[in-house]
Amino acid sequence: MATTVRDETTQMSPGLTTARSPFIEAAREHGELYIEQPYDLYNAENHDAWRQLFARMSDRWQRYANPRFLQGVETLCLDPNAVPRLEDVNKFMAPRTGFKAKAVSGYVPAFLFFDSLRKREFPTTITIRDAERLDYLPEPDIFHDIAGHVPMHTDPAFADALARFGEVAQTAVEIVKRIKDPAEQVRRTTSIMKAMARFFWFTVEFGLMRAPDGNGVKAYGSGLLSSYGELPHSVESPLVQRYPIQLEWVINQYFEIDHYQPLLFIVESFEHLFEQVGVLEEWMKQGRLDNVSPGEPGLSEIDVRSFIDASA
Ligand SMILES: [Fe+2]
Repeated sequence: MATTVRDETTQMSPGLTTARSPFIEAAREHGELYIEQPYDLYNAENHDAWRQLFARMSDRWQRYANPRFLQGVETLCLDPNAVPRLEDVNKFMAPRTGFKAKAVSGYVPAFLFFDSLRKREFPTTITIRDAERLDYLPEPDIFHDIAGHVPMHTDPAFADALARFGEVAQTAVEIVKRIKDPAEQVRRTTSIMKAMARFFWFTVEFGLMRAPDGNGVKAYGSGLLSSYGELPHSVESPLVQRYPIQLEWVINQYFEIDHYQPLLFIVESFEHLFEQVGVLEEWMKQGRLDNVSPGEPGLSEIDVRSFIDASA
């Protein structure tokens, strides 16, 4: 139970730092995926990490982020000096698009994650990176989730595209349900999920959008918007290949998470993104996601099972 976990750890004042949080460890041990945000556990170092991250991103957002994101940051009234309370974020976000940030203790298996999007719930990490290492973080933290993702969820067109993507996971489950041979079921589920993960990666996480004045591109992907180094790199570096989004390519393109992305895709608008999600679903129904190219991302058994179990 969340309250017991909190009582046990409060006396230790440990903070809620990535990979160093007894509260989170205890929640995981108790099998609690959805949790409350124990706001009092954030220590001075945690708030300082948020302050530094927010301060150094502000100018870069003005320059490289798409305008809907900038409006989103304003809408959410994020405090530049303190880790946000999810409750406050939701107060500003939910009336606009119905989206709510929901605190989680760790990794959410793929189907559950996508299905949360359908319900307009966004599984949100509540820990924050170490103030000593602001740049390097292999896993999401509250800065990535709240400052990178959530401002986009205040925009109705983007929110519709994201929730629509969640619905596509339901379509996948319907397809998986009809496959009787267990080995074939795993093989096709893996291929469909790989295609979905790649689509999510090259849009929601690392997407670029044509600038409103037609000149150049702006970022809307949260992986870019939460990275001090990669945000300008993604928009300006001659080392990055940028192409209009092409679904055939996206679903077959492997990606690696441990370096700046050398290849990015551009959408024209969030209405365009919404349409692409529809095409993805159509292709899924036609069997065109059943044999995508192998390679990254690797999918865990838990992720694959999450789809198969949902279809049982
Ligand atoms: Fe993300």
